[in-house]
Amino acid sequence: MKILVVGSGGREHAIAWKILNDNPNFELYCIGTNAGISEIAKCVELKTIEEIADFAQQSKIDFTVVGPEAFLAQGIVDEFSKRGLKIFGPNKKAAQLESSKVFAKQFMLKYGIPTADFAVFDDPNEATRFVEKKDEPLVIKADGLAAGKGTFVAKTKQEALNAIDLLMRKKIFKEAGAKIVVEKFLEGKEVSALAFCDGQTVVPMPGCMDYKRAYDNDQGPNTGGMGCVSPVSHYDKQMQHMTYKLVFERTLEGLQKEGIDYRGVIYAGLMITKQGPFVLEYNCRFGDPETQVLMLLLKSNLLEILQATVERQLSRMKVDWFGKAGICVVLASGGYPENYEIGYEIKGLEECKAIVFHAGTKKVNGKCVTNGGRVLNVCAVGETVAHAREIVYREIKKIHFEKMHYRTDIGLNV
Ligand SMILES: Nc1ncnc2c1ncn2[C@@H]1O[C@H](COP(=O)(O)OP(=O)(O)O)[C@@H](O)[C@H]1O
Ligand SMILES: [Mg+2]
Repeated sequence: MKILVVGSGGREHAIAWKILNDNPNFELYCIGTNAGISEIAKCVELKTIEEIADFAQQSKIDFTVVGPEAFLAQGIVDEFSKRGLKIFGPNKKAAQLESSKVFAKQFMLKYGIPTADFAVFDDPNEATRFVEKKDEPLVIKADGLAAGKGTFVAKTKQEALNAIDLLMRKKIFKEAGAKIVVEKFLEGKEVSALAFCDGQTVVPMPGCMDYKRAYDNDQGPNTGGMGCVSPVSHYDKQMQHMTYKLVFERTLEGLQKEGIDYRGVIYAGLMITKQGPFVLEYNCRFGDPETQVLMLLLKSNLLEILQATVERQLSRMKVDWFGKAGICVVLASGGYPENYEIGYEIKGLEECKAIVFHAGTKKVNGKCVTNGGRVLNVCAVGETVAHAREIVYREIKKIHFEKMHYRTDIGLNV
């Protein structure tokens, strides 16, 4: 079979790796490239969804898996389906759960899915007047996609007013900030709860915790993710059950009632509060770096699950996990997410015994060099989180590049 993976980060390397691991004879293709993916897939650089669909048709691709949300929001699944091509991911309408935070919040309110109290604004002056009257911490969110940078946790009124100014008057994310959500700040611990959904059945994956801040102890700026671990102690059996009942079942029911045919991954970003799980946001795709860990913990054949999802056959699938602990530590370029340099040679990859998924890397004259902010995802599986941590941090010591930075507290106290 010929499989196409759309996207070229650590998440896509992990998906490609798992598919090939389960089915060594498959031919893999990838849209975009890095030094790791290029070793297992034929890579092509294409920009538009039409170009990608043309490529899939010409190359007789049997099945396509989409990583990044932007393509889903643009309707890559609609384009492929129109041409009779098989593809994993929600269509454009379904992808609104992620591409519009206003849509998602109104959906959750309508279907009784626990989420923070909120108000929606399309006028900066009204938003300002609303915030002026509040004295508690608030969270301000751009409605549209903003590459993970559209949310402002405002501890003070001034911070909330600044966020409104940036999003709605200065329009730093253009139309994505034309509408905003202002919501209550929730106290608790976060969990990434991903599930396969075929429109009729939801199959949850193990809970993960990702680490968004650049430095240890959740200090420093927000990033695309500095690491991930699973399982998570504050997401125990009881919390998983509550999440299934209050979040996944109700989400599915709501989607069906709205006439939305959701087939793909539903990823609920949860805050586990004293009152139980609250949904901070939905994502409509695999998480990065959650996927790097989940692919190592998944025992079943990934492609069979993805196919069953597309064919609405999930209820017949047995989705098995190893029941172990997984960890992923991101090796970043010093200075990321702000200013950083690329082009440094990466040494020690051969000696490293951990599983390494590539993100921002490139082959130059046969050498592997850094080519982005997040460079490598070093991953390990263990009997416990502590065991997985021990392996991953031991193996990281063998890798080196100029100004390499990573967090040392991934998986600590979970
Ligand atoms: N209501 C809230 N209360 C407390 N923290 C929040 C709230 N909403 C979001 N956050 C914090 O902001 C982060 C980003 O928000 P999220 O809704 O996931 O948007 P995005 O990922 O699109 O930026 C969350 O991971 C969480 O740490
Ligand atoms: Mg998020």
